[in-house]
Amino acid sequence: MTTSAMLCRERTRRFAGAVLAAAAGLWAALPPVADAAGTEAATGQRIFQEKCAACHTIGKGDLVGPDLKGVTAQRPRDWLERWIAAPDEMLAKRDPVATALLHRFRDVPMPNLHLDAAEVAAVLAYLATSTTGTPAAAAGAPAVVAAGDPENGKKLFVGSARFRNGGPPCMACHSAGGIGALGGGQLGPDLTNVVQRFGGASALSVFVGSSPTPTMNAIWLRAPLTPGERADVVAFLAQAPVSERPVQAIWHLAGLSALGLAILLGISGWIWRRRLRDGVRRPMIAGQRSARG
Ligand code: HEC
Ligand code: HEC
Repeated sequence: MTTSAMLCRERTRRFAGAVLAAAAGLWAALPPVADAAGTEAATGQRIFQEKCAACHTIGKGDLVGPDLKGVTAQRPRDWLERWIAAPDEMLAKRDPVATALLHRFRDVPMPNLHLDAAEVAAVLAYLATSTTGTPAAAAGAPAVVAAGDPENGKKLFVGSARFRNGGPPCMACHSAGGIGALGGGQLGPDLTNVVQRFGGASALSVFVGSSPTPTMNAIWLRAPLTPGERADVVAFLAQAPVSERPVQAIWHLAGLSALGLAILLGISGWIWRRRLRDGVRRPMIAGQRSARG
């Protein structure tokens, strides 16, 4: 063997030693394994409350989506993983189980909530606790809806009354019953009959209260509706809305439409910056805190 080959071997060995030492250091810094398994379900519970409870309960009945009690025993693990990670892709591929569920749930598709693999695993760990009946499973109780004032709800919707926490009028992005259908409200789906589609005022109220979908969440997390405002807007949407459009409303609508677009652009910039700064896998609660501050 030549000297240079030996030198090279020696260097490789030293390098490998350094890598091992670094790995051992990292390992020591990690929490004990048993502890990690315990906290996975707790992390899953937090994710569930934040991203799923608007549409699902565990053992308290259907909301916008099905009651998830026992679902980890009912469906194969890999199906659940794929579904929770990207329901939109499974619906697009016409997965038969997903398609049947979609029809049973009034054709309201479950949104892609952009969970990473670790988050999906955590939520499944949490859902599995409901099959064994731990008290932690009592999550996502449907809210009792206070009767709202539809007249005030309409004012809030179109922006002639303001939300106390400064949120934009719904009509900046949505139309309902012909209101906002021309010129404004194209960024979000039309909300005519949304109460029927969601299966009732209480389901819609829970949805508006926690706004689980990406755009809605980005706005309403920071400027939540008060319970009274929420009840009023839901009451407005629950009425069969009449189509009406005063002529002078056109400019108003054009302004609102521009406002909606500006908000969306602002949000995407903000999310992008946050991605760059925070990286991918960090606790969501901390993510929110730093995003607010
Ligand atoms: C905006 C409402 C909404 C949100 C938020 C939501 N889901 Fe769903 N989910 C649905 C609907 C509706 C269905 C029924 C299928 C369909 O219509 O797309 C469903 C179906 C499911 C199913 C299949 C149930 C079965 O019987 O097989 C699972 C599992 C599930 N959701 C888990 C979750 C988890 C976990 C979260 C949070 C990370 C979540 N969902 C967030 C609306 C939602
Ligand atoms: C800046 C734009 C914007 C504003 C303002 C806004 N929304 Fe939305 N909304 C959206 C978008 C976009 C969606 C589609 C899902 C997503 O990306 O969040 C949506 C989805 C919804 C849905 C689900 C509809 C469905 O068919 O699945 C409801 C209900 C809803 N919004 C209600 C409201 C209410 C009530 C207000 C006013 C309090 C409001 N939104 C204000 C953009 C907005």
